Amino acid sequence: MSFLDWNDEAILNHPTLDKEHKKMVDDTNKLYSYVVSKKNKKANELFFEIIENLQLHFETEDRLMKESKIPLYISHKLEHERFLSKISSLQKSIDAGKEILSVEHLKLVKTWFYNHMKFKDRALAEFLIKHNIQ
Ligand SMILES: [Fe+2]
Ligand SMILES: [Fe+2]
Repeated sequence: MSFLDWNDEAILNHPTLDKEHKKMVDDTNKLYSYVVSKKNKKANELFFEIIENLQLHFETEDRLMKESKIPLYISHKLEHERFLSKISSLQKSIDAGKEILSVEHLKLVKTWFYNHMKFKDRALAEFLIKHNIQ
């Protein structure tokens, strides 16, 4: 079993979203293995890369939401912004040597990920599939 599972909770059946989410799941699992084995340097580098990809992923969803004119766009966008700001401040604090990336941090990411899938991205995927937007 992986730290994050690529399962029915995560798979949305929308190719663009699934591709980006799958990369996030794989990278986070790799990050988890670095954290557990205390490979701090590798962990910090990968964490930085994950945040960059997360930013790009949110841009992808933002574009798809605008293109599809999905209702409740703002609440979805706000959830992205709040998470990105939280995770960026964690990254800064790690960078400044004030904190070390831990399994507890990753558990928060995990909770956020599955919640966000359930309450935001799944509805987005269904809306996009219905309107044939890739
Ligand atoms: Fe997403
Ligand atoms: Fe999202």
